[in-house]
Amino acid sequence: MDKPKVVLGVSGGIAAYKACELLRRLTESGHDTTVVPTASALHFVGAPTWAALSGHPVSTEVWSDVHEVPHVRIGQGADLVVVAPATADLLAKAAHGLADDLLTNTLLTARCPVVFAPAMHTEMWEHPATQENVATLRRRGAVVVEPAVGRLTGADSGKGRLPDPDAIFAVCRRVLARGPVAPDLAGRHVVVSAGGTREPLDPVRYLGNRSSGKQGYALAATAAARGARVTLVAANSALPDPAGVDLVRVGTAVQLREAVLKAAADADAVVMAAAVADFRPASYATGKIKKRDGEEPPTVVLVRNPDVLAEVSADPARPGQVVVGFAAETDDVLANGRAKLRRKGCDLLVVNEVGETRTFGSSANEAVVLAADGTETPVPYGPKEDLADTVWDLVAERLTGG
Ligand code: CTP
Repeated sequence: MDKPKVVLGVSGGIAAYKACELLRRLTESGHDTTVVPTASALHFVGAPTWAALSGHPVSTEVWSDVHEVPHVRIGQGADLVVVAPATADLLAKAAHGLADDLLTNTLLTARCPVVFAPAMHTEMWEHPATQENVATLRRRGAVVVEPAVGRLTGADSGKGRLPDPDAIFAVCRRVLARGPVAPDLAGRHVVVSAGGTREPLDPVRYLGNRSSGKQGYALAATAAARGARVTLVAANSALPDPAGVDLVRVGTAVQLREAVLKAAADADAVVMAAAVADFRPASYATGKIKKRDGEEPPTVVLVRNPDVLAEVSADPARPGQVVVGFAAETDDVLANGRAKLRRKGCDLLVVNEVGETRTFGSSANEAVVLAADGTETPVPYGPKEDLADTVWDLVAERLTGG
């Protein structure tokens, strides 16, 4: 089989050096990668570096090797174009269809999936001009990964960092694995909750659960690769940040509710994969609870937590919002799942069986997705990404009214 053909566009930002690492990941994993830098990118990393690492000649202009018509051929022949870093200027040119160098020509002639990994200062990213350009590109089907938050070029920090090359590589692999299909969640905003809440008893103890967050993180990563803007509300997960999603960290069920409701206000879909504690201690001891000889052990009184899934389902923030719940069951899995779907009022409920050795912390899952319209979609045992993709297939169908 031919190697997948990838075009790595590099525009003129300091993060261009990180694209060398991305290029290595691509070539070492068997992708035939052509680098198309802009002229200003070459101020940061020179053409010999790109040529040596890619094994292909490098040009910024349409005037080299004109007999081969590179400004058309490179884009037409690609299975994936990824631009990393994508500067504010490059995003503006792409959104408006300008074509004054080889990279912008390539972007106009490519009919394959296109991924942009923006990197710039926070002010430039937040400027309405950039935000409108990003929205335009997403609406047209490009995957624009959210920049990471952290240290920027100077001493300042904020949103605008290029995500880690590994994380961008993971997005590229997912997009390539889907083939030449349009990203069906492009232009959509989805909210995913992940992990398990912790309800504090005193400054050192909490009531928690064994959720690792893997399923929720897989849902966030797969949605980003399908073009969605993703808000991931993560409760106490130790997993590495997935590239290109807005991450909101929370601890308790009450904090999770607040973060989910805020993000859900303009969301097309809300997927509640987090294991949310149904109860929390009625009171919090500000000092560590001590054992004392001769005293009875303390009794922990619990109160109910809000049910976020039921709340979002009962009063969706926008018409047509698709709400998905998860049900972890130990017995009578399907019967309990069907009853829970009715009780919670969500559109889809992913039901899986849990136990000491099943599901929690593992990278694989087996489930049935129950829908409010009565359909049932079994998902065989496999990676959590596969289950995530089935969930997004069903969400996408409902969003387009299919
Ligand atoms: N959930 C929620 N808020 C809660 C509890 C659960 O939003 N306070 C959501 C979970 O994120 C999940 C779904 O509800 O999507 C199912 O959670 P589960 O604990 O299995 O169901 P419960 O309603 O708590 O039922 P039970 O524990 O009685 O089985």
